[in-house]
Amino acid sequence: MNVQARSAQDPVKVQLPHTPLPAYYADEAEHTRYLRRIFDDTAPDYDRIERVLALGSGPWYRRTALQRAGLAEGAQVLDVGIGTGLVAREALALIGPRGQLVGVDPSPGMMGEVALPGVELVTGRAEALPRPDASADFLSLGYALRHISDVGAAFDEFHRVLRPGARLLILEISKPESAWGTAALKAYMRTVVPVIARVVARRKSTTPELWRFYWDTIEACIAPATVMDALRAAGFVDVRRHVELGVFSEYTATRGH
Ligand SMILES: C[S@@+](CC[C@H](N)C(=O)[O-])C[C@H]1O[C@@H](n2cnc3c(N)ncnc32)[C@H](O)[C@@H]1O
Repeated sequence: MNVQARSAQDPVKVQLPHTPLPAYYADEAEHTRYLRRIFDDTAPDYDRIERVLALGSGPWYRRTALQRAGLAEGAQVLDVGIGTGLVAREALALIGPRGQLVGVDPSPGMMGEVALPGVELVTGRAEALPRPDASADFLSLGYALRHISDVGAAFDEFHRVLRPGARLLILEISKPESAWGTAALKAYMRTVVPVIARVVARRKSTTPELWRFYWDTIEACIAPATVMDALRAAGFVDVRRHVELGVFSEYTATRGH
């Protein structure tokens, strides 16, 4: 199992979000370099492919999830793993001109595709956020949980940068609970998606690989209950999971006082 206890006193701390995938990288240092390369390389294709394959996770879904999580007009938002800005775009529409949004991502290629006026972009990782304590009242993490090297450290960081009472939203794709649902999604992700990606992509080699890797990380990912336990272990309260279509997980939580 890919849950790693840090100590006997601290049993719910989680490190890796999924079991290691030796088909893609040999160790954690190579994993970080692999992620950086694959996201930098596929950045120019990312939005186009995401539109084709949306699987329900397009602009409407992201905006609805942000609303469900309680994102309010005027909020100061930290969007971690901003990528090309797909969550950030919807957040900006909800917070309006009185709000502010800072995006953090380790991939300069992905952030180079962000075309959102007024957004501050900062290079960094969820595990060590380059942001001051208590500086945001909403934090979003869209489809990046599976790429974090240390989930427990990232959740501690989320707790640190949020103000008391602030809200958190983590969007992630989860393996369906039923075996047939998993088999159907796996078949779609491993066969149909790489073919579509190859047709639509400008980067013919790396883009289909990204979508293969995408499924493998979903299949190997820690269970939703483990994600929720890890949020509680970091000090979050009111931790909940809302699921759409059996696969789109929305984890929400509040930073306690
Ligand atoms: C699948 S993209 C999602 C982008 C965007 N949030 C969305 O909803 O489309 C995942 C992003 O997570 C970023 N990422 C990878 N490792 C990360 C880390 N340790 N901390 C924060 N972001 C990370 C990648 O560079 C990439 O831009």
